[in-house]
Amino acid sequence: MKRVDDFRLKFGKKELVPIIVGGMGVDISTAELALETARLGGIGHISDAMVPDVSDRRFDTSFVKDKTRFYKYNIDNADKSMIKFDLGVLADATRRHVDATMHAKRGEGMIFVNCMEKLTMNAPRETLQVRMASALDAGIDGITLSAGLHLGSFGLLADHPRFRDAKLGIIVSSVRALQLFLRKNARLNRLPDFVIVEGPLAGGHLGFGMDWAQYDLATIMAEIVLYLKTEQLDIPVIAAGGIFTGSDAVSFLEHGAAAIQVATRFTVANECGLPDKVKQEYFKASEDDIVVNTISPTGYPMRMLKNTPAIGSGIRPGCESYGYLLDGNGNCAYITAYNREVLLHPKAKTLSVMDKTCLCTHMRNYNCWTCGHTTYRLKDTTRRLADGSYQTLSAEHIFKDYQFSIDQRIALPL
Ligand SMILES: Cc1cc2nc3c(=O)[nH]c(=O)nc-3n(C[C@H](O)[C@H](O)[C@H](O)COP(=O)(O)O)c2cc1C
Repeated sequence: MKRVDDFRLKFGKKELVPIIVGGMGVDISTAELALETARLGGIGHISDAMVPDVSDRRFDTSFVKDKTRFYKYNIDNADKSMIKFDLGVLADATRRHVDATMHAKRGEGMIFVNCMEKLTMNAPRETLQVRMASALDAGIDGITLSAGLHLGSFGLLADHPRFRDAKLGIIVSSVRALQLFLRKNARLNRLPDFVIVEGPLAGGHLGFGMDWAQYDLATIMAEIVLYLKTEQLDIPVIAAGGIFTGSDAVSFLEHGAAAIQVATRFTVANECGLPDKVKQEYFKASEDDIVVNTISPTGYPMRMLKNTPAIGSGIRPGCESYGYLLDGNGNCAYITAYNREVLLHPKAKTLSVMDKTCLCTHMRNYNCWTCGHTTYRLKDTTRRLADGSYQTLSAEHIFKDYQFSIDQRIALPL
């Protein structure tokens, strides 16, 4: 019977344990989590979502406070089009986050940054270019493009000195999205170094409609592996979404996956950025508590716990401090929904907005409890303590359980 450790992910001459811990913004996949993964020989992700805020927390900078002060005059204005990101600040914050992480790296593994295209930041091209280029400047091993088709993202990096040496890849949820990406980038003569195929059971935003339940990862993987073979393209394909045990992982590795990407099991790791209180909510969840809804202003469905404080919250849009989801014209679906409620209830002291949420503020405050479909199984991965709470686990324990377990077994912590 095979285990994950019988396989290796090959990047040129480099051989890695084929376990990737996926990016989880905002600072849920912390540098500590990514560093542990790299130390153990896999690939860890940090995320550049809301990186000025992450920098403030990690390095005591004051980027968010400064921005809030600068745009304070606009807080009661429904029009957010003038709110822009200072590209110098964005570069500075990204470099700090990446540089400190890369300097702390030990072991044979790698660290990538997760870059979501849907963080349009009221100037989509310029901000994405600065985010990616600054991460490369600061020595990141690779970039995983996510939450978007990224048809122009490679082009934004083509003049960067590390464009051909850093590992660059993309997350897709269909063969069509991959074909589109490859076609649009053909003229750059630079294939992605890896493709992550994310199925419908993943956490965070989904690359499917609300009909997500009709899809399954194994089928999409098979289509993509076959397509690449037919086109004679030798690109490692990585399976993600709902892979809960080492045995689940082995079955993908035996069917053409070069590695697996996992996240949900690591949401209850000591090194994960979620507050302990929230980790307990993840442990306690039953299958009925996990929902996919459309409250994210990005337009993508998102999976979360149904008792997440972000659902129904009618807080004032936080764009003067954040504004990561403003499209290029100062719009965000939450602002529209919020303004509608203000008009309907002009005298109300507090509002409820059911259809959309202020994702920036709620992710920033760990009040949007996004999670994978398998979250309800987390309680089976640990022990219950005398006070009724569940014991959080070390990232090393979870990583090694994926690496060495067989027979659908899950090793409990000591
Ligand atoms: C809490 C949480 C947050 C996530 N945030 C992001 C994100 O910011 N960007 C992204 O590309 N994927 C995100 N994901 C998806 C993961 O990186 C990963 O691909 C997926 O969840 C793997 O499936 P699993 O959770 O079933 O193991 C998130 C997943 C979770 C559980």
